[in-house]
Amino acid sequence: MFITFEGPDGSGKTTQLNKLVPALEAKGLDIVRTREPGGTDIGDQIRSVIMNMKNKSMHPRAEILLFCASRAQLVEELIRPSLAAGKIILCDRYADSTMAYQGYGHGLDRTMLTHLLDFATGGLKPDLTLLFDISAEAGLRRRISNHEEWNRMDDYALQFHERVRSGYLTMAAAEPERFVVINADRTPDEIHTDVLSAILSRL
Ligand code: TYD
Repeated sequence: MFITFEGPDGSGKTTQLNKLVPALEAKGLDIVRTREPGGTDIGDQIRSVIMNMKNKSMHPRAEILLFCASRAQLVEELIRPSLAAGKIILCDRYADSTMAYQGYGHGLDRTMLTHLLDFATGGLKPDLTLLFDISAEAGLRRRISNHEEWNRMDDYALQFHERVRSGYLTMAAAEPERFVVINADRTPDEIHTDVLSAILSRL
């Protein structure tokens, strides 16, 4: 089973993954946790180019191709082999992030993006996508109060992050059988309970 974790910056996906992995492992499940961009040696090198504050002049088209390059490598090197071995893959961001950030956020052509994402993933779609929903303002406030590292992607304006959020909600409404929307503006324990039950009910 291939499960992805999506949401705006500061939605708490990573905190939830940290709680979820041991909870699933305690049930005897074989878990592979990964993230985007990155997750492989090549992908991590691409990630450092994407995130580097020195690269402020990066064009959105260049940015998207880097995200897709990292993803193609991750699919072939880790996700497909892990699925073939019967494992459960938990991936922190995947193709929906590109549609939300580059499509809805930056306004790139979404039909073109659909084709590009299909090419990058070789057509591999998640079985389940958890969308951690939080307003852009609450998400950024949370990142600042957690003293999380500020990267080039965080530097985009608040309106950009609002477009990302509403893009995600549009995608979730279009594919209700794949998405579970989780209210991420609550305590980590409350959110964890919902995350666990969303996953266990599908296994
Ligand atoms: P990261 O530090 O991993 O943030 P988070 O903990 O919020 O996942 O940074 C990833 C950033 O890259 C985040 O702002 C979302 C953005 N991103 C895209 O714009 N497009 C993509 O396809 C992906 C995978 C991420």
